[in-house]
Parts: sequence; C-alpha cells; structure tokens
Amino acid sequence: MKDSLNREIDYMRISITDRCNLRCQYCMPQGIKQTMMSDILTFEEMAHIVSIGAKLGIKKIKVTGGEPLVRLGCCDFIKMLKNIEGIEQVTITTNGVLLDRYMDDLITAGVDSINVSIDTLNRELYQKLTGFDKLDEVLQSLKILTNYDIPVKINAVSIDLHEYGMRYGIDVLKTDYQNLIELAHYNKIDVRFIEMMPIGYGKNFETINHQDFLQQLKKDYVLQEDSTIHGNGPAVYYKIDGYEGSIGLISAIHGKFCDSCNRIRLTSQGYLKTCLCFNDGVDLRTILRSGAHNRDELLEEAIKKAIVHKPNAHRFENKEDISEDKNMYMIGG
Ligand code: 5AD
Ligand code: SF4
Repeated sequence: MKDSLNREIDYMRISITDRCNLRCQYCMPQGIKQTMMSDILTFEEMAHIVSIGAKLGIKKIKVTGGEPLVRLGCCDFIKMLKNIEGIEQVTITTNGVLLDRYMDDLITAGVDSINVSIDTLNRELYQKLTGFDKLDEVLQSLKILTNYDIPVKINAVSIDLHEYGMRYGIDVLKTDYQNLIELAHYNKIDVRFIEMMPIGYGKNFETINHQDFLQQLKKDYVLQEDSTIHGNGPAVYYKIDGYEGSIGLISAIHGKFCDSCNRIRLTSQGYLKTCLCFNDGVDLRTILRSGAHNRDELLEEAIKKAIVHKPNAHRFENKEDISEDKNMYMIGG
C-alpha cells in the first residue's frame, strides 16, 4: 500500500532474534540484555503478521537479527515465508559465521539472495571490531557460496579502517577498502558500503562521508554508474571495468533517500517500526496475543495506520531529534 507521501511500501525487514554470535563494537560490544523467549514472537506469529502485510502489498521480506542463523529453525521460517501468498522474495542478512552449516538449507528453503556483513579484510581488525577471529571462516564460506546460483552481496559499514586500526594498535592501510572491493573483481558479488548511522553504539563511530568516498573511488577506478536493479534497497551502484560484481553505496546520511523509502521493520518482539530514526510504530504483539475475535482486522488496521503515519524523512543530522532508543540488534539494520 501507499503511505501519505505516495511511497509504495512493499518491503518488510524482520529481526527474528536479538541474539548474535559476534559482538560488533558498533552494535552490541557487551552483548544484549537477555529477553525472555516468551517476549519474542514465534515464527508462526511472525508469519501471521507477514500474511496480513502481504494482503496490504508487502511483497519482499528481509530476514535479519541480531544474527538470524543463531535462531533455530531460521531456514524453515524462510520456507514458511516463501509459501505465503503475495510474498515474492525472501532474502537474508547474515554475518556469515554459520553459513557453512546452513548454506544448503538456505538454498533448499528457497532464499532469494544472501547478504554477508564483512567490514574489513584485515583479520586482526575484524577480530577487534567483531570480538571474534572468524574472518577466515566467513571468507571460506563466501567462496563456497559463490558456486551456488544465488545473488550474494557484501555489506561493509563505512568507517575509517586505518583510524580504527590505530586505536587498536593495528597497522591498517588507508586503502584497506580496496581489498573489500577486490571481492567483486573475480566473483559476481556486489560489495556495498553503508554509511554508519547514529543508532545505539553506532553513535560512538564516525561515518565516512560517501560524497567524499565516491570522489576517492573515482580517483582509484574508472567508475560507471550501474542503473540495473540489484535489489530492493537504496544503494546506488557503480561498475568498475573488468569487475564481475558492482560497488554499491548506501548513503543514508550524506545522500538521503527517504523520498523513495519502501520499507517497514518488525522487531523480534513484534513492534512494527516505520522509520529507523524514530520510535514511531505499533506494538503488534499485544494485538496478536489479545485473543480478540476480530484480531486479524485489528492487526490490519494497525499496520495500515502505522504505514499512513510513516515519518516523511529521518533526521539523523539532528542528534536531539532521534527518538529511537532501541539498539540496532533489535531493529535489524
Ligand atoms: N549503521 C549502519 N549499519 C549498521 N549495521 C549495524 N549497525 C549499523 C549502524 N549503526 C549493519 C551491520 C550489518 C547490517 C545488518 O547493518 O553491519 O551489515
Ligand atoms: Fe551481530 Fe550484526 Fe550486531 Fe555484528 S552488527 S554484533 S554481526 S547483529
């Protein structure tokens, strides 16, 4: 359905768990506050919300976390979503640590594409940033994944890897981002850089300005804007001559794309969020568990109302306007 700005809302991101097997500094450096499992929606409850969303025009689902693959049954859930009428595409964002174990199941479940988060190819810095020495395993899985006929994308947050390396006493080259870009050279992998958003612990990090970064990339490579459609998101893609994959820039801060926003977000506790920057939204869990005889009608009304009131644009540039106090692991990026 359309919101009040005539934006077609057809994409829902679902954080299926707050938990994660990494401890990224900008996300959950000390882990999470334990939630009771009973506060987390069951997969059946999530699928029920999706089926109502599908009636309202939701066509694409992104399964996120925390780390989605740490929740048992994640692949079955994807299969469940794929069977909901109106749902055309189900994709997943993972840190890749459990990919070797679940890759086959994901493909069998019918997942339509896989995003793997890797912020640096410097093994020591990866360990400092994520808390675990897992880079080699993730890269090994990535290599195997490219043998499957499924779109694969890399997500890297845009931070100054050289500067953060220095903080940890690690000598990271200023050109370290080029190593990430090299992943797109001989593999059909899109490498996307994401401006760091001031949410949760992300507030402690400074994002690279993508306007500057693009100028730098234009000095490094011969770039051509790539207007072919790569996914459902706001990334602007560029091709480098001779590279199989494309380079994507997701620039929420220095290239605001709210005018074309197509998404809503469901937290694992059943809160439907309409913008990353604000608390706005509706608690669907309460309605879902209310036992009301017209529960589905109430859910539909609540979702519609939330979409109609979706904020026009984020205001990340004004720190005091940010009303979102949840952490990224609760929202799912
Ligand atoms: N800003 C931008 N991206 C973030 N992610 C986590 N926190 C932030 C933030 N504050 C990214 C993760 C992952 C994706 C799901 O969201 O690195 O790639
Ligand atoms: Fe886990 Fe992703 Fe958060 Fe890192 S950013 S701790 S991988 S949920």
